[in-house]
Amino acid sequence: MFKLNENYLKLPGSYLFSTIGKKVNAYASAHPDKKIIRLGIGDVTQPLAPAIIQAMHGAVDEMGRAETFRGYAPDLGYEFLRNAIAENDYKARGCDVSADEIFVSDGAKCDSGNIQEIFSLDNKIAVCDPVYPVYVDSNVMAGRTGVYDDVSGTWSDVIYMPCTEENGFAPELPSQTPDLIYLCFPNNPTGATIYKEQLQEWVDYANRTGAVIIYDAAYEAYISEEDVPHSIYECRGARSCAIELRSFSKNAGFTGVRLGFTVVPKELKCGDVALHSLWARRHGTKYNGAPYIVQRAGEAVYSAEGSVQLKEQVAYYMNNAHYILKGLREAGYTVSGGVNAPYIWLKAPDGMSSWEFFDYLLEHANVVGTPGSGFGPSGETYFRLTAFGSYENTVEAVDRIRAL
Ligand SMILES: Cc1ncc(COP(=O)(O)O)c(C=O)c1O
Repeated sequence: MFKLNENYLKLPGSYLFSTIGKKVNAYASAHPDKKIIRLGIGDVTQPLAPAIIQAMHGAVDEMGRAETFRGYAPDLGYEFLRNAIAENDYKARGCDVSADEIFVSDGAKCDSGNIQEIFSLDNKIAVCDPVYPVYVDSNVMAGRTGVYDDVSGTWSDVIYMPCTEENGFAPELPSQTPDLIYLCFPNNPTGATIYKEQLQEWVDYANRTGAVIIYDAAYEAYISEEDVPHSIYECRGARSCAIELRSFSKNAGFTGVRLGFTVVPKELKCGDVALHSLWARRHGTKYNGAPYIVQRAGEAVYSAEGSVQLKEQVAYYMNNAHYILKGLREAGYTVSGGVNAPYIWLKAPDGMSSWEFFDYLLEHANVVGTPGSGFGPSGETYFRLTAFGSYENTVEAVDRIRAL
Protein backbone atom coordinates (compact mmCIF):
# COMPACT_ATOMS: atom_id res chain seq x y z
CA MET A 1 0.00 0.00 0.00
CA PHE A 2 1.40 3.36 -0.93
CA LYS A 3 2.13 5.95 1.72
CA LEU A 4 1.77 9.71 1.64
CA ASN A 5 4.37 12.34 2.19
CA GLU A 6 2.84 13.14 5.55
CA ASN A 7 4.59 16.45 5.74
CA TYR A 8 1.85 17.77 3.44
CA LEU A 9 -0.72 16.93 6.09
CA LYS A 10 1.04 19.26 8.52
CA LEU A 11 0.32 22.32 6.37
CA PRO A 12 -2.19 24.43 8.28
CA GLY A 13 -5.46 25.75 6.89
CA SER A 14 -6.19 26.61 3.31
CA TYR A 15 -4.04 28.84 1.22
CA LEU A 16 -4.45 32.51 2.08
CA PHE A 17 -5.61 33.61 -1.35
CA SER A 18 -8.17 30.85 -1.70
CA THR A 19 -9.75 31.95 1.60
CA ILE A 20 -9.83 35.52 0.31
CA GLY A 21 -11.30 34.34 -2.98
CA LYS A 22 -14.08 32.45 -1.21
CA LYS A 23 -15.00 35.42 0.97
CA VAL A 24 -15.01 37.80 -1.99
CA ASN A 25 -17.11 35.42 -4.12
CA ALA A 26 -19.63 34.99 -1.31
CA TYR A 27 -19.91 38.77 -0.91
CA ALA A 28 -20.16 39.34 -4.68
CA SER A 29 -22.95 36.80 -5.12
CA ALA A 30 -24.88 38.27 -2.19
CA HIS A 31 -24.38 41.82 -3.55
CA PRO A 32 -24.35 41.62 -7.36
CA ASP A 33 -24.89 45.39 -7.66
CA LYS A 34 -21.62 46.31 -5.89
CA LYS A 35 -18.40 47.07 -7.78
CA ILE A 36 -15.64 45.30 -5.90
CA ILE A 37 -12.11 46.65 -6.34
CA ARG A 38 -9.36 44.09 -5.86
CA LEU A 39 -6.09 45.36 -4.44
CA GLY A 40 -5.28 42.04 -2.80
CA ILE A 41 -3.36 39.56 -4.91
CA GLY A 42 0.01 40.73 -6.19
CA ASP A 43 -0.84 40.22 -9.85
CA VAL A 44 -0.16 42.87 -12.46
CA THR A 45 -2.87 44.38 -14.67
CA GLN A 46 -1.09 46.31 -17.42
CA PRO A 47 -0.65 44.57 -20.80
CA LEU A 48 2.74 43.40 -21.99
CA ALA A 49 4.88 46.21 -23.40
CA PRO A 50 5.00 46.56 -27.23
CA ALA A 51 8.69 45.62 -27.44
CA ILE A 52 7.93 42.34 -25.70
CA ILE A 53 4.96 41.55 -27.88
CA GLN A 54 7.05 42.25 -30.96
CA ALA A 55 9.81 39.91 -29.74
CA MET A 56 7.27 37.18 -29.03
CA HIS A 57 5.69 37.55 -32.47
CA GLY A 58 9.14 37.27 -34.06
CA ALA A 59 9.91 34.15 -32.02
CA VAL A 60 6.56 32.57 -32.89
CA ASP A 61 7.36 33.07 -36.59
CA GLU A 62 10.78 31.46 -36.08
CA MET A 63 9.11 28.44 -34.50
CA GLY A 64 6.98 28.10 -37.64
CA ARG A 65 9.93 27.63 -40.00
CA ALA A 66 12.02 24.46 -40.12
CA GLU A 67 15.31 26.36 -40.36
CA THR A 68 14.66 28.47 -37.23
CA PHE A 69 12.53 26.06 -35.21
CA ARG A 70 13.83 25.29 -31.67
CA GLY A 71 13.11 22.27 -29.52
CA TYR A 72 14.37 21.79 -25.98
CA ALA A 73 16.20 24.81 -24.65
CA PRO A 74 19.69 24.47 -23.12
CA ASP A 75 19.52 23.46 -19.43
CA LEU A 76 20.63 26.80 -18.04
CA GLY A 77 18.65 28.86 -20.55
CA TYR A 78 19.59 30.38 -23.91
CA GLU A 79 22.87 32.24 -23.95
CA PHE A 80 21.29 35.34 -25.52
CA LEU A 81 19.13 35.74 -22.40
CA ARG A 82 21.76 34.80 -19.83
CA ASN A 83 24.20 37.25 -21.46
CA ALA A 84 21.59 40.03 -21.39
CA ILE A 85 20.90 39.34 -17.70
CA ALA A 86 24.60 39.20 -16.76
CA GLU A 87 25.26 42.42 -18.64
CA ASN A 88 22.26 44.49 -17.55
CA ASP A 89 21.25 43.21 -14.13
CA TYR A 90 24.75 42.57 -12.85
CA LYS A 91 27.74 44.05 -14.74
CA ALA A 92 25.96 47.39 -15.13
CA ARG A 93 25.61 47.52 -11.34
CA GLY A 94 29.20 46.51 -10.69
CA CYS A 95 28.28 42.94 -9.66
CA ASP A 96 30.50 40.03 -10.53
CA VAL A 97 28.04 37.48 -11.94
CA SER A 98 28.79 35.56 -15.10
CA ALA A 99 26.27 34.19 -17.58
CA ASP A 100 27.04 30.58 -16.62
CA GLU A 101 26.05 31.27 -13.02
CA ILE A 102 22.52 32.17 -14.16
CA PHE A 103 19.84 29.46 -14.34
CA VAL A 104 16.79 30.53 -16.34
CA SER A 105 13.48 29.18 -15.04
CA ASP A 106 9.75 29.70 -15.27
CA GLY A 107 9.63 32.01 -12.27
CA ALA A 108 10.76 32.82 -8.78
CA LYS A 109 7.93 30.97 -7.07
CA CYS A 110 9.16 27.62 -8.36
CA ASP A 111 12.79 28.47 -7.70
CA SER A 112 12.11 29.73 -4.17
CA GLY A 113 10.15 26.55 -3.46
CA ASN A 114 12.65 24.19 -5.10
CA ILE A 115 15.96 25.61 -3.93
CA GLN A 116 15.68 23.95 -0.50
CA GLU A 117 16.02 20.54 -2.20
CA ILE A 118 19.77 20.86 -2.55
CA PHE A 119 20.19 21.29 1.22
CA SER A 120 20.11 18.65 3.93
CA LEU A 121 16.97 18.20 6.00
CA ASP A 122 19.13 18.98 9.03
CA ASN A 123 19.42 22.60 8.04
CA LYS A 124 17.59 25.15 10.12
CA ILE A 125 15.86 27.90 8.19
CA ALA A 126 15.33 31.50 9.28
CA VAL A 127 12.56 33.59 7.75
CA CYS A 128 11.24 37.08 8.20
CA ASP A 129 7.89 37.33 9.92
CA PRO A 130 5.68 38.29 8.03
CA VAL A 131 6.94 36.36 5.01
CA TYR A 132 6.10 35.26 1.46
CA PRO A 133 4.51 31.90 2.39
CA VAL A 134 6.32 29.76 -0.22
CA TYR A 135 9.63 29.76 1.69
CA VAL A 136 8.09 28.20 4.78
CA ASP A 137 5.56 25.91 3.10
CA SER A 138 8.14 24.35 0.75
CA ASN A 139 10.29 23.53 3.80
CA VAL A 140 7.23 22.08 5.56
CA MET A 141 6.65 19.79 2.57
CA ALA A 142 10.27 18.69 2.75
CA GLY A 143 10.00 17.95 6.48
CA ARG A 144 12.40 20.57 7.75
CA THR A 145 10.17 22.65 10.02
CA GLY A 146 9.19 20.48 13.01
CA VAL A 147 5.80 20.81 14.67
CA TYR A 148 3.19 23.46 14.02
CA ASP A 149 1.71 25.38 16.93
CA ASP A 150 -1.84 26.48 16.13
CA VAL A 151 -1.88 29.11 18.82
CA SER A 152 1.26 30.99 17.87
CA GLY A 153 1.05 30.09 14.16
CA THR A 154 4.71 29.07 14.16
CA TRP A 155 6.83 25.97 13.47
CA SER A 156 9.08 24.57 16.20
CA ASP A 157 12.16 24.27 13.95
CA VAL A 158 11.92 27.58 12.12
CA ILE A 159 13.70 30.69 13.30
CA TYR A 160 11.37 33.65 12.91
CA MET A 161 12.78 37.14 12.53
CA PRO A 162 9.99 39.58 13.39
CA CYS A 163 9.74 42.62 11.12
CA THR A 164 7.76 45.20 13.02
CA GLU A 165 7.18 48.91 13.15
CA GLU A 166 9.80 49.09 15.95
CA ASN A 167 12.62 47.75 13.75
CA GLY A 168 11.41 49.48 10.59
CA PHE A 169 10.27 46.11 9.19
CA ALA A 170 13.93 45.09 8.84
CA PRO A 171 14.90 41.76 10.42
CA GLU A 172 17.55 41.67 13.12
CA LEU A 173 20.31 39.06 13.23
CA PRO A 174 18.78 36.05 14.99
CA SER A 175 20.03 34.90 18.41
CA GLN A 176 19.92 31.25 17.29
CA THR A 177 22.22 30.55 14.32
CA PRO A 178 20.38 29.42 11.15
CA ASP A 179 21.83 27.48 8.21
CA LEU A 180 19.58 28.92 5.52
CA ILE A 181 18.35 32.50 5.67
CA TYR A 182 15.53 33.65 3.42
CA LEU A 183 15.57 37.38 2.75
CA CYS A 184 13.36 39.30 0.34
CA PHE A 185 13.93 42.98 -0.43
CA PRO A 186 12.03 45.01 -1.51
CA ASN A 187 9.76 42.97 0.69
CA ASN A 188 6.51 41.24 0.06
CA PRO A 189 4.31 41.85 2.04
CA THR A 190 5.61 44.88 3.99
CA GLY A 191 6.99 46.86 1.03
CA ALA A 192 10.06 47.61 3.18
CA THR A 193 13.63 47.70 1.94
CA ILE A 194 17.00 47.66 3.61
CA TYR A 195 20.01 49.78 2.80
CA LYS A 196 23.20 48.37 1.39
CA GLU A 197 25.09 48.61 4.67
CA GLN A 198 22.31 46.64 6.41
CA LEU A 199 22.45 43.92 3.74
CA GLN A 200 26.24 43.91 4.06
CA GLU A 201 25.79 42.98 7.75
CA TRP A 202 23.75 39.95 6.69
CA VAL A 203 26.37 38.91 4.16
CA ASP A 204 29.13 39.25 6.77
CA TYR A 205 27.01 37.30 9.26
CA ALA A 206 26.36 34.49 6.77
CA ASN A 207 30.03 34.21 5.85
CA ARG A 208 31.00 34.25 9.53
CA THR A 209 28.51 31.55 10.56
CA GLY A 210 28.62 29.41 7.41
CA ALA A 211 25.00 30.10 6.45
CA VAL A 212 23.53 30.54 2.98
CA ILE A 213 21.29 33.52 2.20
CA ILE A 214 18.51 32.88 -0.29
CA TYR A 215 17.87 36.39 -1.52
CA ASP A 216 14.61 37.05 -3.35
CA ALA A 217 14.92 40.24 -5.39
CA ALA A 218 11.66 39.82 -7.33
CA TYR A 219 10.77 43.48 -6.75
CA GLU A 220 14.13 45.15 -7.42
CA ALA A 221 12.72 47.14 -10.38
CA TYR A 222 10.63 49.17 -7.91
CA ILE A 223 13.60 50.55 -6.00
CA SER A 224 13.65 54.34 -6.20
CA GLU A 225 16.01 55.32 -3.39
CA GLU A 226 19.79 55.48 -3.57
CA ASP A 227 21.72 53.09 -1.34
CA VAL A 228 19.06 50.39 -1.60
CA PRO A 229 20.76 47.41 -3.22
CA HIS A 230 19.19 45.90 -6.34
CA SER A 231 21.21 42.73 -5.92
CA ILE A 232 22.86 41.04 -2.96
CA TYR A 233 26.00 40.79 -5.11
CA GLU A 234 26.47 44.53 -4.59
CA CYS A 235 27.72 43.47 -1.14
CA ARG A 236 31.30 42.33 -0.54
CA GLY A 237 31.59 38.60 0.02
CA ALA A 238 28.12 37.72 -1.25
CA ARG A 239 29.51 35.33 -3.85
CA SER A 240 30.52 32.90 -1.12
CA CYS A 241 27.22 32.92 0.79
CA ALA A 242 24.28 34.02 -1.36
CA ILE A 243 21.89 32.67 -3.95
CA GLU A 244 19.70 35.26 -5.68
CA LEU A 245 16.23 34.73 -7.11
CA ARG A 246 14.77 37.01 -9.75
CA SER A 247 11.51 37.20 -11.62
CA PHE A 248 10.22 38.87 -14.78
CA SER A 249 6.72 38.96 -13.28
CA LYS A 250 6.73 42.33 -11.59
CA ASN A 251 9.26 44.31 -13.65
CA ALA A 252 7.80 43.22 -17.00
CA GLY A 253 4.31 41.85 -16.32
CA PHE A 254 5.24 38.20 -17.00
CA THR A 255 2.96 36.73 -14.30
CA GLY A 256 1.11 34.82 -17.02
CA VAL A 257 4.06 34.45 -19.41
CA ARG A 258 6.36 32.89 -16.75
CA LEU A 259 10.07 33.62 -16.61
CA GLY A 260 12.63 34.02 -13.85
CA PHE A 261 16.14 33.01 -12.94
CA THR A 262 18.37 32.00 -10.07
CA VAL A 263 22.00 32.96 -9.61
CA VAL A 264 24.28 30.45 -7.91
CA PRO A 265 27.87 31.75 -7.82
CA LYS A 266 30.56 29.14 -8.33
CA GLU A 267 32.33 30.24 -5.15
CA LEU A 268 29.41 29.16 -2.99
CA LYS A 269 30.60 25.85 -1.57
CA CYS A 270 29.95 23.34 1.18
CA GLY A 271 33.43 21.87 1.72
CA ASP A 272 34.58 21.01 -1.79
CA VAL A 273 31.12 20.83 -3.32
CA ALA A 274 29.86 23.81 -5.28
CA LEU A 275 26.14 24.47 -4.84
CA HIS A 276 26.24 25.50 -8.51
CA SER A 277 26.86 21.87 -9.52
CA LEU A 278 24.02 20.59 -7.32
CA TRP A 279 21.54 23.13 -8.68
CA ALA A 280 22.74 22.41 -12.23
CA ARG A 281 22.08 18.73 -11.60
CA ARG A 282 18.67 19.41 -10.14
CA HIS A 283 17.73 21.81 -12.92
CA GLY A 284 18.91 19.41 -15.63
CA THR A 285 17.05 16.48 -14.11
CA LYS A 286 13.74 18.06 -13.19
CA TYR A 287 13.31 20.98 -15.55
CA ASN A 288 13.32 21.17 -19.34
CA GLY A 289 13.73 24.89 -19.84
CA ALA A 290 11.61 27.98 -20.28
CA PRO A 291 10.04 28.21 -23.77
CA TYR A 292 12.13 29.81 -26.53
CA ILE A 293 9.37 32.33 -27.23
CA VAL A 294 9.34 33.39 -23.60
CA GLN A 295 13.12 33.65 -23.40
CA ARG A 296 13.10 35.91 -26.48
CA ALA A 297 10.45 37.99 -24.69
CA GLY A 298 12.78 38.13 -21.68
CA GLU A 299 15.64 39.34 -23.89
CA ALA A 300 13.41 42.20 -25.10
CA VAL A 301 13.07 43.40 -21.50
CA TYR A 302 16.67 44.59 -21.81
CA SER A 303 16.38 46.14 -25.29
CA ALA A 304 16.49 49.94 -25.62
CA GLU A 305 12.74 50.21 -26.35
CA GLY A 306 11.83 47.49 -23.86
CA SER A 307 13.62 49.11 -20.96
CA VAL A 308 12.04 52.52 -21.65
CA GLN A 309 8.55 50.99 -21.89
CA LEU A 310 9.02 48.96 -18.72
CA LYS A 311 10.29 51.94 -16.75
CA GLU A 312 7.01 53.60 -17.68
CA GLN A 313 5.06 50.55 -16.54
CA VAL A 314 6.81 50.44 -13.19
CA ALA A 315 6.27 54.21 -12.84
CA TYR A 316 2.56 53.68 -13.52
CA TYR A 317 2.27 51.24 -10.62
CA MET A 318 4.42 53.39 -8.36
CA ASN A 319 2.16 56.34 -9.08
CA ASN A 320 -0.66 54.17 -7.70
CA ALA A 321 1.49 53.35 -4.69
CA HIS A 322 2.06 57.04 -3.98
CA TYR A 323 -1.64 57.75 -4.31
CA ILE A 324 -2.50 55.01 -1.79
CA LEU A 325 0.26 56.06 0.59
CA LYS A 326 -0.68 59.73 0.52
CA GLY A 327 -4.44 59.15 0.65
CA LEU A 328 -4.31 56.74 3.57
CA ARG A 329 -1.84 58.86 5.49
CA GLU A 330 -4.10 61.89 5.09
CA ALA A 331 -7.00 59.75 6.31
CA GLY A 332 -5.05 59.03 9.50
CA TYR A 333 -3.84 55.49 8.79
CA THR A 334 -0.39 54.30 9.82
CA VAL A 335 1.17 53.26 6.51
CA SER A 336 4.55 52.14 5.25
CA GLY A 337 6.11 50.60 2.14
CA GLY A 338 5.08 51.97 -1.25
CA VAL A 339 8.34 53.86 -1.88
CA ASN A 340 10.62 51.11 -3.20
CA ALA A 341 7.91 48.48 -3.62
CA PRO A 342 4.42 48.12 -5.07
CA TYR A 343 3.03 47.10 -1.65
CA ILE A 344 1.51 49.32 1.01
CA TRP A 345 1.46 47.95 4.54
CA LEU A 346 -1.04 49.55 6.85
CA LYS A 347 -2.08 49.11 10.44
CA ALA A 348 -5.71 48.09 10.86
CA PRO A 349 -7.47 50.91 12.71
CA ASP A 350 -9.32 50.80 16.03
CA GLY A 351 -7.64 47.65 17.31
CA MET A 352 -9.14 45.47 14.56
CA SER A 353 -7.47 42.20 13.64
CA SER A 354 -6.26 41.72 10.06
CA TRP A 355 -9.28 39.60 9.12
CA GLU A 356 -11.72 41.96 10.88
CA PHE A 357 -10.35 44.80 8.80
CA PHE A 358 -10.56 42.64 5.67
CA ASP A 359 -14.28 42.01 6.31
CA TYR A 360 -14.88 45.64 7.23
CA LEU A 361 -13.23 46.95 4.07
CA LEU A 362 -14.98 44.42 1.86
CA GLU A 363 -18.37 45.25 3.30
CA HIS A 364 -18.13 49.01 3.68
CA ALA A 365 -15.78 50.05 0.87
CA ASN A 366 -16.04 46.98 -1.39
CA VAL A 367 -12.26 46.96 -1.51
CA VAL A 368 -10.24 43.75 -1.24
CA GLY A 369 -6.82 43.68 0.36
CA THR A 370 -4.76 40.96 2.04
CA PRO A 371 -4.83 40.35 5.79
CA GLY A 372 -1.31 40.70 7.19
CA SER A 373 -1.80 37.74 9.54
CA GLY A 374 -1.83 35.47 6.47
CA PHE A 375 1.91 36.15 6.11
CA GLY A 376 2.86 35.24 9.68
CA PRO A 377 2.09 36.09 13.30
CA SER A 378 3.84 39.47 13.22
CA GLY A 379 1.53 40.44 10.35
CA GLU A 380 -1.47 40.37 12.69
CA THR A 381 -3.30 43.73 12.83
CA TYR A 382 -1.63 44.68 9.52
CA PHE A 383 -3.06 44.75 6.02
CA ARG A 384 -1.50 44.77 2.55
CA LEU A 385 -2.73 46.75 -0.42
CA THR A 386 -1.10 46.43 -3.81
CA ALA A 387 -0.38 49.11 -6.36
CA PHE A 388 -0.93 46.69 -9.26
CA GLY A 389 -4.49 47.79 -10.03
CA SER A 390 -5.46 50.32 -12.69
CA TYR A 391 -5.01 53.98 -11.74
CA GLU A 392 -8.77 54.57 -11.93
CA ASN A 393 -9.56 51.68 -9.59
CA THR A 394 -6.79 52.67 -7.22
CA VAL A 395 -8.12 56.22 -6.96
CA GLU A 396 -11.66 54.98 -6.44
CA ALA A 397 -10.57 52.47 -3.78
CA VAL A 398 -8.59 55.06 -1.84
CA ASP A 399 -11.41 57.59 -2.06
CA ARG A 400 -13.84 54.99 -0.75
CA ILE A 401 -11.55 54.12 2.17
CA ARG A 402 -11.09 57.82 2.98
CA ALA A 403 -14.85 58.27 3.04
CA LEU A 404 -15.39 55.52 5.66
C1 LIG B 1 8.60 37.63 -2.96
C2 LIG B 1 8.11 36.94 -4.15
N1 LIG B 1 8.89 36.05 -4.76
C3 LIG B 1 8.46 35.39 -5.85
C4 LIG B 1 7.21 35.63 -6.38
C5 LIG B 1 6.75 34.84 -7.57
O1 LIG B 1 7.36 35.25 -8.71
P1 LIG B 1 7.08 34.49 -10.09
O2 LIG B 1 5.84 35.08 -10.68
O3 LIG B 1 8.31 34.75 -10.88
O4 LIG B 1 6.91 33.03 -9.80
C6 LIG B 1 6.38 36.54 -5.79
C7 LIG B 1 5.03 36.76 -6.36
O5 LIG B 1 4.18 37.37 -5.84
C8 LIG B 1 6.84 37.21 -4.65
O6 LIG B 1 6.06 38.10 -4.02
